[in-house]
Formats: sequence, structure tokens, C-alpha cells
Amino acid sequence: MKRSRRPFGFVAWLAAALLSAGLAPSHAQTQTTRNEAAEKVLAELDAPGRRVRKVPRKDGEFLRLLVEATGAKNALEIGTSVGYSAIFIALGLEQTGGKLTTIDIAPDQVRQAKENIAKAGLAHRVTCLEGDAHKVVRTLEGPFDFIFFDADKEGQVDYFNVLFPKLQPGGVMVCHNAIRHEKHLRDYLDLVKNHPQLDTVILSATMDDGFAVSYKRKTKQERRH
Ligand SMILES: C[S@@+](CC[C@H](N)C(=O)[O-])C[C@H]1O[C@@H](n2cnc3c(N)ncnc32)[C@H](O)[C@@H]1O
Repeated sequence: MKRSRRPFGFVAWLAAALLSAGLAPSHAQTQTTRNEAAEKVLAELDAPGRRVRKVPRKDGEFLRLLVEATGAKNALEIGTSVGYSAIFIALGLEQTGGKLTTIDIAPDQVRQAKENIAKAGLAHRVTCLEGDAHKVVRTLEGPFDFIFFDADKEGQVDYFNVLFPKLQPGGVMVCHNAIRHEKHLRDYLDLVKNHPQLDTVILSATMDDGFAVSYKRKTKQERRH
């Protein structure tokens, strides 16, 4: 069996990033987004009793931090739902000057996502596409420097096969539910942990579920540019 890579440099960088944002797995208070309009929409979606498919708040904060820390400019999300994680990603992109394309198969989710993103004042950062992401991603040119997967877990390897070539060297692929849905993501996780061009870490901001974060290394030649 192939041994998984141990990317200490990338792990150390991520740990430092998590700690500097107060996001280390803990029960500490959540971070403010420093954006009133976005904060209002996020609070509505977080309200007790509101049944919305979305990442936990701390995971949203982690996504924003990762976008900002990596300086991502061309982001892609698979699985928009009502736009909660897209708002966090877009908040990171406000700092980098980047754009997000997000895809969902459910028309009503896409409608609500567009409304929420507009209410958060972030419509200029986000393009919401409606359709089966397996088909839509084949039509997107890329390259992307940040890809967030949060849709059908059984389709994860297909997404990888289509999108890995469209991920810029130096970019990251982030897959949600890597702990809770480890069983359904096993083929994908094996692929990214053993891929010769990727450094992958599994981490949690919630001490419950977590992410597989995969960094696409640059070649020596790419590092020079
Ligand atoms: C867990 S929710 C996404 C939550 C969202 N990322 C957030 O945190 O706000 C998963 C979403 O994936 C969408 N989905 C499932 N299969 C899909 C597919 N083949 N193409 C596009 N979207 C899909 C569902 O409609 C659902 O809205």
C-alpha cells in the first residue's frame, strides 16, 4: 500500500492560519465578519429552527480565512444551497479582489442563494449557476485557484477528474464532510492523499466534522514565475 504524504510545511502553515484567526478547534466564540449586511444574512440563516443545508459557522469562517490567506482570485463552489458558504467565500474574495462561481442543481436553492448573496452586498463577487454540476463543470474553462466541494459525495471522484486539470498550481481543493462522510469519500480521499502533485491534510474547525484540504504543488519551474 502506498504511504500517504506528510506535508509538514503545509500543515504548519494551516495550523498557523487557524490559530491566528482564533479558529483552532475549540469552543471559542465565532469571529465577526466585519460586514454588517453579510452578518445579518448569516445570522438569519443561523437562526435556531431555520432548516437550511449549510456548513457550520466555524467552517464558513475557515473558508473565508483560507481564501484570504491563499490570495485566491478565481474560486469555484460545487453545492451552493442557499448561499451560506458562498457568502463566506465571497467575503474572502472581497479582500483579494476575486470572483466565485457556484453551482447547484436545485432551482429553488439557486433562487434563494441569489437573494441572500445580494442582501449580503456580495452579488458583484458571485455568479450562481443552476444545473447538474457534473455537466456544468465540463463547460467551465478555469483555471481556478480555490475549489470547494460540498455536494453529492458519490460524485466526488468525477468532480476531481474534471477539475484537477483546471486547478492552478499553487491552488487548493477543499472537500467538506471529510470526517463524517469519510466512508462515502473513501475513493476521493485515497486519491488526494496519494496524488504525486498534491499535499493533503484532514482538519476540523468544529471538533466534529471537517475538511480535506489539498494543495496543488508548483513545479520548480512554476515556482520561479
Ligand atoms: C450540503 S448542501 C451545500 C451547502 C452549502 N455549501 C453551504 O454551506 O451553504 C449540498 C447542495 O448540493 C446540491 N447538489 C447535490 N447534487 C448536486 C449536483 N449533482 N449538482 C449540483 N448541485 C448538487 C444540493 O442541491 C444542495 O443544495
